[in-house]
Amino acid sequence: MAFPKNFLWGAATASYQIEGASRQDGRGECIWTRFSHTPGKVLNADTGDVATDHYHRYVEDVALMKTLGLQAYRFSISWPRVIPHCTGASNPAGLDFYDRLVDELLKAGIVPTATLYHWDLPQALQNRGGWLNREIVGWFADYTDLMTRRLGDRVKNWITINEPFVAAFVGYAFGAHAPGYSDPRGGLLASHHMFLAHAASMGLIRQNVPNAVAGITLNLSWVDPATPSEADIQAARRHDGFVNRWFLDPVFKGEYPSDMLQLYGSMLDDIDVTEVKQAAVPQDFLGINYYTRNVIENDANGPYLQTHEVKPPHSSYTQMGWELCPESLTQILVRLHQDYAPKALWITENGAAYVDPSPENGVVADPERTAYLQSHIAAVETAIQQGSPVTAYFVWSLLDNFEWAYGYDRRFGIIHVDFKTLTRTMKQSALWYRDFIAKSTGK
Ligand code: FCB
Repeated sequence: MAFPKNFLWGAATASYQIEGASRQDGRGECIWTRFSHTPGKVLNADTGDVATDHYHRYVEDVALMKTLGLQAYRFSISWPRVIPHCTGASNPAGLDFYDRLVDELLKAGIVPTATLYHWDLPQALQNRGGWLNREIVGWFADYTDLMTRRLGDRVKNWITINEPFVAAFVGYAFGAHAPGYSDPRGGLLASHHMFLAHAASMGLIRQNVPNAVAGITLNLSWVDPATPSEADIQAARRHDGFVNRWFLDPVFKGEYPSDMLQLYGSMLDDIDVTEVKQAAVPQDFLGINYYTRNVIENDANGPYLQTHEVKPPHSSYTQMGWELCPESLTQILVRLHQDYAPKALWITENGAAYVDPSPENGVVADPERTAYLQSHIAAVETAIQQGSPVTAYFVWSLLDNFEWAYGYDRRFGIIHVDFKTLTRTMKQSALWYRDFIAKSTGK
């Protein structure tokens, strides 16, 4: 196999999606608590109030990780659990939880990898504008300072922000995620503040964590034009600027892509775009979350980018309606290496939702998810053979969980969760992954 010896195999989760205990031990409200309790926002009116109850079951969950032979675990910290209200006073019970989780992981020989922001912004900060308020750069720095001082003796791997595209645009411009705003200018402003917050956070991680390994996680998609026509090629280029380059260029080059600056034009009037040079701080890795590719055609009547996504009719799709396209994972990993030369690339999320049968004889049969993981891990291997410096892979997700606007309807876990009893059951994909890790690490 092409995977280097020190390659890390892991699984990922996020606080709001698994922890539950949303009103316990002093945790403050977050934008997803508010959003999910607003009628009509989340499928079946599901909320993360209980989720998988990981807050109380983390010992069992770490034991499951150990059974699988995971080498690393990517979790996120709930900002409102540790700073419940506005800025200022931290919550000792919340901090204790992350201490206990980290200690449990270390005891099991699993490398903790902490994400600071996976979308559960304290509602108290949203009340002051959230990511639209420039002061968030300082708020995020204070929160980073608190967590890195607290955990930095034991946690070396840090991710600042998960998927700024989704957090900024889906939350502030499309309204489909918390806080549910629909203003394209807001999406741009929120993303700008995220770049500045990322830079401030990286500085504090370096200051407080000896031998830190730190970076940001972006959701990136390979983009293909629907036809070889010049119009579709240009449309695909605009879409690439929208989802990929708007995020990559700031963190690697300290600038926004010039074609996008031109396209957004007066929508950027409130932003001093030159400030983004601050964002290009050295990173130890770039995290990428990969699920699918996008096929794009020109659409003269489309909204401001005049693009439209098409679904190739002969492809296979997951339950999310995302096209299966492992080759595009290879393509994007090779392109990142060529265009941006990151020190290392980590796949911080990759996985699939399918309709699973109920557990039978203590296991859940999920052949499609297993095949998805196999083909995508093979695609990573091909990218490594082509020179791309991938050094870690995290399955999304360890557990079935609260899938944002889809609630509990979409299951991404390699471990099944019965949301009535909260019982965990291995899926075949988990057992396949366990055997794969054992084989590839020679254990
Ligand atoms: C990503 C999110 C993650 C999960 C997967 C399916 O965009 O980071 O929390 O919802 O998609």
